Amino acid sequence: MSTILAGSAALVSGADRGIGAGIARRLAEAGASVAIGYRRGRDGAETLAADLTATGLSARAVPLDVVDRASVQAAVAATVEAFGGLHILVNNAGYLNRVDFAEIDPEDWDHTLAVNLRGPFLLCQAVLPHLKAAGRRGRIINISSMGGQFGGTKAVPYAASKAALISLTKSLARLYAGDGMTVNAIAPGLIRTEMMAAVVTPEEEAQAIADVPLHEIGLPGDIAEAALYLAAESGRYVTGHVLNVNGGIHIGAGM
Ligand SMILES: NC(=O)c1ccc[n+]([C@@H]2O[C@H](COP(=O)([O-])OP(=O)(O)OC[C@H]3O[C@@H](n4cnc5c(N)ncnc54)[C@H](OP(=O)(O)O)[C@@H]3O)[C@@H](O)[C@H]2O)c1
Repeated sequence: MSTILAGSAALVSGADRGIGAGIARRLAEAGASVAIGYRRGRDGAETLAADLTATGLSARAVPLDVVDRASVQAAVAATVEAFGGLHILVNNAGYLNRVDFAEIDPEDWDHTLAVNLRGPFLLCQAVLPHLKAAGRRGRIINISSMGGQFGGTKAVPYAASKAALISLTKSLARLYAGDGMTVNAIAPGLIRTEMMAAVVTPEEEAQAIADVPLHEIGLPGDIAEAALYLAAESGRYVTGHVLNVNGGIHIGAGM
């Protein structure tokens, strides 16, 4: 078992399932103490925490609704209290609803922006003193999306929120590099999770496999490896970057 993150504490939002669970698991396997943020998925978060602690790793489930400032502050405080500090924040929680642009409900627009942008803003603000104290070990990793770079015809508010998250990433990277922390984004392509299953039809999946240069749908573990790279010493000289983990879509398939 690797110990490259030994002594570091991480908080991952929306980590009861999917990509967040994959990232939480990978960071714990690398030696970090991990707070597994959950909103509705308490069972998933507690099962994951129990799984990890049963193998001698350090993890605990922490309630966290990213749009609620009090919940954000409580989750950050619980992480710091449990692990004695906070070095790595992964803004993973996300919301996507596919609706024709002409039919978008303004409430749904606001909710998308709240989960995907207000949430990371609140969390970044809340962890700031702890990441400043972490110095050169401080890391923020924002899970954006290819839609944030290319726009998205089927989920316009989602794409807009993920583009804004990239802008937030670059702003914070510039603002806080002097404190030693790095701030980066990962832009996943299609990754096999509940979110993908809920919005992508089997026909679209088959088309995607044909279109993606590497001809595969990604797995949460692919994003987890990218997050580990950015979180560990390996990422020490990388900041303000958007890391594409998408099977090569950005080099020109038809998606
Ligand atoms: N899967 C893909 O193809 C793909 C591609 C590009 C980017 N991404 C991004 O990767 C991240 C993870 O996606 P996923 O595919 O793993 O999705 P997922 O399986 O649907 O998981 C999303 C997670 O976010 C949580 N969440 C939603 N609203 C929340 C809130 N207000 N507060 C706290 N947690 C909240 C969900 O919890 P609840 O059950 O409580 O809502 C869930 O734990 C997202 O940011 C997504 O946009 C995914």
